[in-house]
Amino acid sequence: MLPPVLTIDGPSGSGKGTIVQLVAQKLGWHMLDSGALYRLVAFGSQNNQLSLNNEDDIADYASNLDVEFKLFNVKPVAEKGQHSQELRIILEGNVVGVELRTEATGNAASKVAAMPKVRQALFQRQRDFRQNPGLVADGRDMGTTIFPDAKVKVFLTASAEERAQRRYKQLKDKGISGNLAALLRDINERDERDSQRSASPLKPAEDAVIIDTSDLSIEQVVEQVLAICKKGFDV
Ligand code: C5P
Repeated sequence: MLPPVLTIDGPSGSGKGTIVQLVAQKLGWHMLDSGALYRLVAFGSQNNQLSLNNEDDIADYASNLDVEFKLFNVKPVAEKGQHSQELRIILEGNVVGVELRTEATGNAASKVAAMPKVRQALFQRQRDFRQNPGLVADGRDMGTTIFPDAKVKVFLTASAEERAQRRYKQLKDKGISGNLAALLRDINERDERDSQRSASPLKPAEDAVIIDTSDLSIEQVVEQVLAICKKGFDV
């Protein structure tokens, strides 16, 4: 039997990244950040002087993407005697960090993500993350295209204004400066591009549970998702 998968899809800023991490930790399951793959393709292509308009070149780069996701034990958590873990992304031998999370890389990612050949090139790589004891998959098309047979599917949404606010705060916390109005404009543009594209557009799977997170705390969303998992997977 294939390992279980929980898919969590939704637009940028819907809180997915944080929720997926917390839920994966609680369940003790693996995690797939599919957005990071599109960001890596965009970032790496640009570093290798490939034109973001050349679908064949970008798809070729995506098929041979040289990336490793490594978990490192960092700061000990004294009271629990545990170590918190940090994910390091190594692209072509170099650790990539904040540069992957900038708005510029996000926008470039959304452009390469609209290319069907690029999506095809990353298809199997994403499915290979499905390993025991289970996988929490974060993206736009996890429940519709990559893992259509997932037993539990969640779609997170939030208003564009709320998502721009969250993004602003997130960037600030990472030491990256942002402009709220520009962030809102970027979010609207990216939503438009992600939901209008012909290849795997951003939309909830028919069997997904939709959660509007605009007025919910992170803890409340995690609780709701875990409750849905409890019913769906018996975990
Ligand atoms: O989630 P994140 O903001 O890192 O994703 C960056 C971009 O990658 C998104 O705007 C979207 O265009 C694209 N993406 C996608 N399909 C996924 C994950 C991300 O098209 N499964």
